[in-house]
Amino acid sequence: MCGIVGYIGHRQAYPVIINGLKRLEYRGYDSAGVCILNDNPQLFKCKGKVSDLEKHVGSNDVSGTVGMGHTRWATHGVPNDVNAHPHVSMKGLFTIIHNGIIENYSPLKTRLEKRSYKFKSETDTEVLANLIEYIYLKGNVTAEIAVRLALTKVVGAYGLVVICRDEPNMLIAARKGSPLVIGVGDDEYFVASDATPIVEFTNSVIYLNDNDVAIIKRGELTLKTIYNESLQPNIQTLDLDIEEIEKGGFEHFMLKEIFEQPRSIHDTFRGRISQDLNEIHLGGLYHVLPRLVEAKRIILIGCGTSWHAALVGEYLMEELARVPVEVEYASEFRYRNPIIYKDDVVIAISQSGETADTLAAIRLARAAGALVLGVCNVVGSSIPRETDAGVYTHAGPEIGVASTKAFTAQVTILTMISILLGWRKGHLSQEKYKELIKEITLVPDKIEKILGSNNEVIKIAEIFHKSTNFLYLGRGYFFPVALEGALKLKEISYIHAEGYPAAEMKHGPIALIDDKMPVVVIAAKDSSYEKVVSNVQEVKARKGVVIAIVTEGDTLIKNMADYVLEIPKAHEIVESLLAVIPLQLLAYHIALMRGCNVDQPRNLAKSVTVE
Ligand code: F6R
Repeated sequence: MCGIVGYIGHRQAYPVIINGLKRLEYRGYDSAGVCILNDNPQLFKCKGKVSDLEKHVGSNDVSGTVGMGHTRWATHGVPNDVNAHPHVSMKGLFTIIHNGIIENYSPLKTRLEKRSYKFKSETDTEVLANLIEYIYLKGNVTAEIAVRLALTKVVGAYGLVVICRDEPNMLIAARKGSPLVIGVGDDEYFVASDATPIVEFTNSVIYLNDNDVAIIKRGELTLKTIYNESLQPNIQTLDLDIEEIEKGGFEHFMLKEIFEQPRSIHDTFRGRISQDLNEIHLGGLYHVLPRLVEAKRIILIGCGTSWHAALVGEYLMEELARVPVEVEYASEFRYRNPIIYKDDVVIAISQSGETADTLAAIRLARAAGALVLGVCNVVGSSIPRETDAGVYTHAGPEIGVASTKAFTAQVTILTMISILLGWRKGHLSQEKYKELIKEITLVPDKIEKILGSNNEVIKIAEIFHKSTNFLYLGRGYFFPVALEGALKLKEISYIHAEGYPAAEMKHGPIALIDDKMPVVVIAAKDSSYEKVVSNVQEVKARKGVVIAIVTEGDTLIKNMADYVLEIPKAHEIVESLLAVIPLQLLAYHIALMRGCNVDQPRNLAKSVTVE
């Protein structure tokens, strides 16, 4: 949440920062701002998107080779011009951009007010700017020392960049809880919330750790902790292509990412399944596999779509590996004093690898002595760095705020882990092991086929885009798919939608069904097919309008449903990967027809780095 870009070097900073902010806009788009240093700091900020900021800057001179910019997802204070970042300290000495939350901002603010500090905004960030300035002036210390000392007083999370008016050739960047990456070019440095603003300039990066402070001067970078301990920068090579973060001819990132799924799933299992389909090899889990195989219980944690992937994982692991699995919302887990045993294995699932609640939950699990693993998409993000081991999903950057290809990549990894565990624990024969591995490898072509029915989805979207409610029903592996389909629809089209286990319908939601209620039933052939047939009949008996996802060649449900979308035949352990595709497309087209901003839905941000 919130995107940060900083630059110091030989280029004009403004275009680097504006383009970088556009790449980070998925992290928040309530307001945007820049500060470019020339002789004096030139600061522009306004409510709205980066494009509004560009209009606001207009023909003003923004030349300068040092600067920073911010795109905001509001936490403290409504989205408006005053609360937009950067924030300037009262006497104008410090300018700051910040991602995160200063939890003790209120007592800090009171103390500063007693020392005659006045505040213009409602933000926690302005408090920090003034605290730094107060320490700088009162202690007569350097800007670097003032920033470090101020950060020792702060409770909460931050990724931030500070500029001091007295030392205009320096950026100070610091991180605790909110991600920050430094790009190292030739005589130039970049700072950003993730690597996407940096990749077109350099692939050498340093990921800051919690409590790190980077003092970046022209051609010189010093890394230390907030406690003044020197650190050796660990420069890593970025494995990211600029094409991966462009729209590539698609109207929206979300559509591109939906259509990328045959490739992203292939990339997820490529190199992890042997040519002869006889083996799954997950290098990242190699050293911990014996403990995973011996685990008495596995706890899967995540938020939102990643939590839905965890639900699919629960069904898979219990079915194939016969191990008890619990699925937890990270935000609940961390605060409810959960029972965690030392021989538990906790698997955190996260696209961004930065979700604050998931990070806090893994810290709790590690403190309790459990083995903690990560299934993440963003390489170098916080969760992979704070877990004992893990597997990257390799879906490539996901920019659309609504998660699509990350979900299917997560489910692919969880399917591989489940099959591997089933085999290692002796629950699968060699023949079955191979058969299930093969099923995974067939998924990309099957998804390609489903994507070919995009026009049929458009026709259904045309009929239903004005509906105000939707119900999504599914059983077994299709229950989490129903939840995911409903989430996709509500987050990008703002239509109220609920996902339910199909059999639970009778215990309440059936009261909602009338001839105006579209009911999406995931009714592909699996072990609960017959039961779902009855559920469809129950909906039809109440005049509900049924949109059914069925297996190719199905005639029974086809004759009962009002509209059908087909998916190819597959083993039920991979069917969730297929059934979710038409639901992603349906949500996309409905949102588009309603005139919604598909890639940047209101109130949302991609990377939820605040709890
Ligand atoms: C929904 C969506 C969110 C995320 C959730 C967790 O489309 O994207 O529900 O799944 O915020 O994010 P990660 O996976 O980054 O931990």
